[in-house]
Amino acid sequence: MFDPANFINDSVKKIKTEVKGRAIIACSGGVDSTVAAVLGARAIGDRLLAVFVDTGYMRKGEPEAVGRMMKDLGVNSKVIDARDEFYSALIRVSEPEKKRKIIGGKFIDVFDREAKEFGADYLFQGTIAPDWIESGGELRDTIKSHHNVGGLPEEMKLTLVEPLRDLYKDEVRKVARELKIEAAERQPFPGPGLAIRIMGEATREAADTVREACAITEEEIERAAEKGEMELPWQYFAVLLPVKTVGVHGDLRAYGYTVAIRAVESLDGMTAGYSKIPHRVLERISVRITNTLGDHVNRVVYDITNKPPGTIEWE
Ligand code: XMP
Repeated sequence: MFDPANFINDSVKKIKTEVKGRAIIACSGGVDSTVAAVLGARAIGDRLLAVFVDTGYMRKGEPEAVGRMMKDLGVNSKVIDARDEFYSALIRVSEPEKKRKIIGGKFIDVFDREAKEFGADYLFQGTIAPDWIESGGELRDTIKSHHNVGGLPEEMKLTLVEPLRDLYKDEVRKVARELKIEAAERQPFPGPGLAIRIMGEATREAADTVREACAITEEEIERAAEKGEMELPWQYFAVLLPVKTVGVHGDLRAYGYTVAIRAVESLDGMTAGYSKIPHRVLERISVRITNTLGDHVNRVVYDITNKPPGTIEWE
């Protein structure tokens, strides 16, 4: 039987003897990297720096929330505002793979800069067992180049520390609960963030729009689930399309963009079925999005594609 308290004790002891210098970790706010950061902080205190990179494509309020959470958990941390750098790097880039590569590369640049400035010799990562055990994950990699804050390159010349390497997700969740970490039950969020939920050029304006649309979608679905109107889907979000359509705004003709809502049921993201969300919930999402973003969005559609053939994200 897995005992989270024992695991924490052993892990902290091991890190104390193994890590002699300074260390850094890229934090996404997700459960794996948060647990790894807290274990590291318990072992070596402020010699570990947890870095959250605000790429400009994070969810609404996320950089602030992650910064606060790290502080509350007693982790020495820093939120880096790299928004301008990312927006500039993506000007006139609309091809999905190119976007992913540029974001992945930029992330490494920013993180590497911080690692050097802090004088880190060690790199903590929240790698868990399914991340490295072969699990038929190869197909995934040939479809999209996945970017993950856990996947920093070997060229960084830092010694890797992976305290969760032998754990499965349910065990990590147990450790998280034992450490009083609240990040435990979040829905998945892709490494490149909202940039891959903007079809075409991921400008600052588009990021602000899709961020608001995602926040509304999450809020309405979570509220409906709380009220017992539906089960919480496995993943649910909004996508901004560059397609303009005609509408009416008050008495005037409008010509605005389209938002697509995506919600899926899945076990591991490899296959998925679209969620049968009640129409009244979809209507509330649609009305709120067009009321809030009415200046430039005047149409909302619902994606009824399973995976396969569609992927969960649109890029
Ligand atoms: P797709 O779109 O490939 O997504 O059906 C399957 C799951 O993976 C998430 N996803 C990512 N996660 N880095 C990640 O860490 C990525 O680059 C990435 N791309 C997609 C997606 O949100 C879904 O849960």
